[in-house]
Amino acid sequence: MTTTSEQDRVLIFDTTLRDGEQSPGATMTHTEKLEIASMLDEMGVDIIEAGFPIASEGDFQAVSEIARRSKNSVICGLSRANFKDIDRCWEAVKHAARPRIHTFIGTSPLHRAIPNLDQDQMADLIHDTVSHARNLCDNVQWSPMDATRTEHDYLRRVVEIAIKAGATTINIPDTVGYTAPRESADLIRMLIEEVPGADEITFATHCHNDLGMATANALAAVEAGARQIECTINGLGERAGNTALEEVVMALKVRNDIMPYSTGIDTTKIIGISRRVAAVSGFAVQYNKAIVGKNAFAHESGIHQDGMLKNAETFEIMRPEDIGLSETNIVMGKHSGRAALRSKLKDLGYEVGDNQLKDIFVRFKELADRKKEVYDDDLIALMSDTDASA
Ligand code: KIV
Ligand code: ZN
Repeated sequence: MTTTSEQDRVLIFDTTLRDGEQSPGATMTHTEKLEIASMLDEMGVDIIEAGFPIASEGDFQAVSEIARRSKNSVICGLSRANFKDIDRCWEAVKHAARPRIHTFIGTSPLHRAIPNLDQDQMADLIHDTVSHARNLCDNVQWSPMDATRTEHDYLRRVVEIAIKAGATTINIPDTVGYTAPRESADLIRMLIEEVPGADEITFATHCHNDLGMATANALAAVEAGARQIECTINGLGERAGNTALEEVVMALKVRNDIMPYSTGIDTTKIIGISRRVAAVSGFAVQYNKAIVGKNAFAHESGIHQDGMLKNAETFEIMRPEDIGLSETNIVMGKHSGRAALRSKLKDLGYEVGDNQLKDIFVRFKELADRKKEVYDDDLIALMSDTDASA
């Protein structure tokens, strides 16, 4: 069996403050961005993409301040493929102990048509801009936007140019969430095997969730050799969002038997940052969201509650404490059984005998039929009625 120290380390690149903040309506204030960046730094995120410095004075100030304050994480800023963007990005990230410039250009036929560049003109621009970035900073990431819809021979060509010009990380974005897991893996494997110099750099995977496959695509890319996952807290991001950090990190932890890769993330910090990002972005987390949804560790049906009370592993593949929750949430409702009711009452300080439980259970079910959820206060009220009528 592979031990953690022997396992391949996958870098976690969080882009909540850049791609996540680009979701319409998710804008965060300067102070909120500093708070989230410091939580990301503390939880062990390897690289924080703190913003897009040329986009606005506010973004520039936030990236500069995050760079100054960062303790452990590499601080990265985004820039388009022009010298002005790259210079502005460098001005912001250079304050970090470990700065990175990330520069990108759309390489698919649809994206090449926008600046109206032919393949050769774009190749020259990639060479010039990556070289310029590398002259400023020794940590440069380059992304061919819409890589998954770029012709393979052109993708191989431009990736090789970017590596020769000094890129240290090549990110392969599935910008429109179009790829599928096997294709995601094949693309990364093909680039690693066929591009000269590929073994000298790190490949990253950056997936969007338009078809709900972002997590699966990112993990497939890792199995094919990618060693950096780009993701956001709660999967925040444009349209259907980005790969969710909590999903890939917990998948690698829980299924380490078949995906033996480690991350540096302290998973007990997941729930705290998930809640803060939801609050500051205004994007509530759906109840049934994997890992961080309100119902991810909640059980209402009698069979599940009974199983959980006997052995939590019956219906839970990870422990709530692993993500920073104090306990499983046993939700009392019309599907709950006697065992759960007895256990809940015990938690609330009521020890009830079998006969008393029978009577309370009938009244509890009547109440549960009228209410979606029966809260602790409802049970306390029910118990005081029982005491009064006894
Ligand atoms: O989705 C995308 O292509 C991006 C790039 C800027 C990396 O976010
Ligand atoms: Zn993106």
